[in-house]
Amino acid sequence: MSEIIAVANQKGGVGKTTTAVNLAASLALAEKNVLLIDFDPQSNATTSLGFRRSDIEFDIYHVLVGSKKLSQIIQETEMPYMHLVPSNIGLVGLEKEFYDKRTSGRELLLKKAIEEIKHLYDFIIIDSPPALGPLTINALSASDSVIIPIQCEFFALEGLAQLLSTIKLLQDNINPHLKIKGFLPTMYSSQNNLSKQVFADLSQHFNAKLFKNSGDKENPYVIIPRSVKLAESPSFGKPILLYDVKSNGSIAYQNLAQSILCGA
Ligand SMILES: Nc1ncnc2c1ncn2[C@@H]1O[C@H](COP(=O)(O)OP(=O)(O)O)[C@@H](O)[C@H]1O
Ligand SMILES: [Mg+2]
Repeated sequence: MSEIIAVANQKGGVGKTTTAVNLAASLALAEKNVLLIDFDPQSNATTSLGFRRSDIEFDIYHVLVGSKKLSQIIQETEMPYMHLVPSNIGLVGLEKEFYDKRTSGRELLLKKAIEEIKHLYDFIIIDSPPALGPLTINALSASDSVIIPIQCEFFALEGLAQLLSTIKLLQDNINPHLKIKGFLPTMYSSQNNLSKQVFADLSQHFNAKLFKNSGDKENPYVIIPRSVKLAESPSFGKPILLYDVKSNGSIAYQNLAQSILCGA
């Protein structure tokens, strides 16, 4: 059975795309069939896997408006078990096409599109844009669960209440199955007191929803460190696994994948 996981937070720059790409690659390394869906018109997941926007003729937008099937636009990646559904800037047009007209079922466009190929994958990971608009609503409506990256910096928890109430609204109205898979601390610097404070706040409020490293008493939680290698790898068009597999950022994302494979 395939599991569909959205990566969402309406704040920009918190590590959504980095998490979606590297979680997908780490699950693929474990020989799980993974589909990464880029659902952000900024196409950062697409370009960080080495695709150029100008080379993409059809993207997820064409699927949502019904001119292509999802199976027709899936791309292979450098990772054998990982496929990509690309996005492009045209995806912003979705709002105009469906939302201005208040088309019924507009929250479920992505969910319906995924049904065609769902059985082919163990995991489908959806990267979402930095807003709580129609695209993120579609991503959350299509998903079994959501991972919420939390950047370990100032104002990290600001806006979280709004995200959590959106999730609750979706659970009550559109997608009763939606679960919070976990909060993922990102860009953590152990030398930085603010990072420590954000993590302390997170573990105080949401300890049960932090990803755990099973059997590692010294580092019980999965925490994504601030890492130059993680920031560099997109410019080489590669997930961190193919850029510097032994870097601490790479290991942290493999730990996240392990935690999920162990049932987190
Ligand atoms: N753990 C990290 N360490 C260092 N840089 C990171 C890390 N995670 C993300 N970045 C960088 O921070 C920026 C924002 O990350 P990104 O994943 O694109 O966030 P979002 O998708 O939430 O906007 C990008 O330039 C990315 O390469
Ligand atoms: Mg992004």
